[in-house]
Parts: sequence; C-alpha cells; structure tokens
Amino acid sequence: MSDALLRVEDVSLTKEGYRILNRVNLSIQPGEVHCLLGLNGSGKSSLAYVLMGCSGYRPDSGRIWFAGQDITDFSITERARLGMTLAWQEPARFEGLPVGAYLALGARDRSPAALAASLEAVALAPAAYLDRPANHSLSGGERKRIELAAVAAMCSRLAILDEPDSGVDALTLGDVASLIRKMAEAGTAVLLITHRDEMVTLADSASLMCLGSIICQGDPAQVRDFYGRRCRPHAGAMGTPAWERARSAEEVPLNVTVSQ
Ligand SMILES: Nc1ncnc2c1ncn2[C@@H]1O[C@H](COP(=O)(O)OP(=O)(O)OP(=O)(O)O)[C@@H](O)[C@H]1O
Ligand SMILES: [Mg+2]
Repeated sequence: MSDALLRVEDVSLTKEGYRILNRVNLSIQPGEVHCLLGLNGSGKSSLAYVLMGCSGYRPDSGRIWFAGQDITDFSITERARLGMTLAWQEPARFEGLPVGAYLALGARDRSPAALAASLEAVALAPAAYLDRPANHSLSGGERKRIELAAVAAMCSRLAILDEPDSGVDALTLGDVASLIRKMAEAGTAVLLITHRDEMVTLADSASLMCLGSIICQGDPAQVRDFYGRRCRPHAGAMGTPAWERARSAEEVPLNVTVSQ
C-alpha cells in the first residue's frame, strides 16, 4: 500500500553461498503490529538486521522503503534517526551503566517518573532495578524485559522486536503483550518477530517465513493456522540433504518448503 510506513520489496540476501532471504515482500502501516512467524533458522533475525541496515546485511537485490524514502543504502545510524529501532534477540550488556541511565539514553521522556513507568510496564520494580548495573548480573529474562522497556520508551516510528517473548516467564508474557499493544496505540508500528504462535493474536497482520521465503501473509488467524499445519513437516526436514540443497543459492527454497 502506498501509505505504508515500511515497505520491503523483493529483498534477497545471500551469506557465504546460502540464500538466507528469498524475495521477501512486506508492508507495515503506521501504528500496526505485524507479526513475523517462523521456525528456528527461517531467516527472521536476518530480515531484522537487513531492515536496520546492520553491517554485512545489505540485500543482494530488492529495495526497502521507510516513510516514502528509499533507505536501502542508508546506514544503521541514518535509519535510527528516521525513527527505526531494533530490540535484539540477544540484548547487549552495558557494563558500568545503571539500568535507569540505559533507559534514559533513547527515551523520549527522561523524567524519573517516566523511566519508572517504563520498567513497571515490563513488571520490574523500579526501586529494585533503576540503579542496578545493566551488566552480566541481570538474568536473561531481566535483560530482555529491560531491552523491551528501553525500546518502548523511545516512542519510535517503527520498533522491530526480535523475540521479545523469548526467555520471559509465562507470568510476564501478558505484560509484554499489553506493552506491545500500547506501543501500537501510541503510534509506533511494531514488527513482532516470534516463533510462539499465540503471539499472533496481538497482531493486525502477519507473515510466515520458511527457509528465507514468506510463504503465507495476511490475516493473523489464517497465518497462525497455516503455521501450525504446514510448518511441522518443514521442522522434520531441517538438516536433511534436501533442506541443505534448498539453502544453497542455486535452488528456489519454496520448492522444498511447501512440499509435504
Ligand atoms: N553468515 C552466515 N552463513 C551461513 N548461514 C547463515 C549465516 N547467517 C545466518 N545463517 C543461517 O541463516 C538462517 C537464518 O538465520 P536467522 O538467525 O535469521 O534465523 P531466525 O529465523 O532468526 O531463527 P531463530 O528463531 O532461531 O532466532 C539459519 O539457518 C542460519 O544458520
Ligand atoms: Mg532469530
């Protein structure tokens, strides 16, 4: 659609002879949650890196548009300035920086009350976390939640969340889900990357990725259903010679991904 905030057109990526992304097309409207589903190794994080302009992830072909601008050749910094952010699957550690200062780095509202509220949104008690160092002493789930709080506090135009649900305990998943919906209501478009199919219920639209190709796109409920039915055989095929051949750039992965 012409008013899309993000438009990905026919993007392919090859790394070390393997076709990681195969002619990916995707559009996200302003304030929309789009869920990108896919099994382990399907190419979700690679697409996130391509979208953010990470080093080594320039597409071989295809274009990326953001707010009407062709950003395919923009650096990660230029994309961040335009209002794109990424919450990493494996959040970085900031040795020596307290959690509060880390949150304040990109937050739109840096007041103590706003920083505290951003931690409360991910069910972390501000009094216990604001002054703690954001280093190895935090658990994996705590780091994921702080990373999500930091990205939400930025109020960016597009937030790419790479598995915000991974490593987060079941009791906190509801808080993560409501924060994602709140981000969208406040005007942030969200690309929600996950392999947990129940997260699809949060989304306004969805895509299913398999072997670097988007094999189903549109209504979240239909994509979820397709994921459940079609991806099990793919999971069984992972690592087989046919799968490995499909990963090489010479073959079209879809030939394998849709066969059952
Ligand atoms: N530099 C590389 N060389 C070869 N293969 C690579 C390279 N980088 C990524 N891959 C492969 O590309 C595929 C996609 O990886 P990616 O990390 O994007 O998957 P993912 O969908 O995010 O998986 P997960 O759910 O496990 O996070 C994987 O099979 C991975 O092994
Ligand atoms: Mg990943």
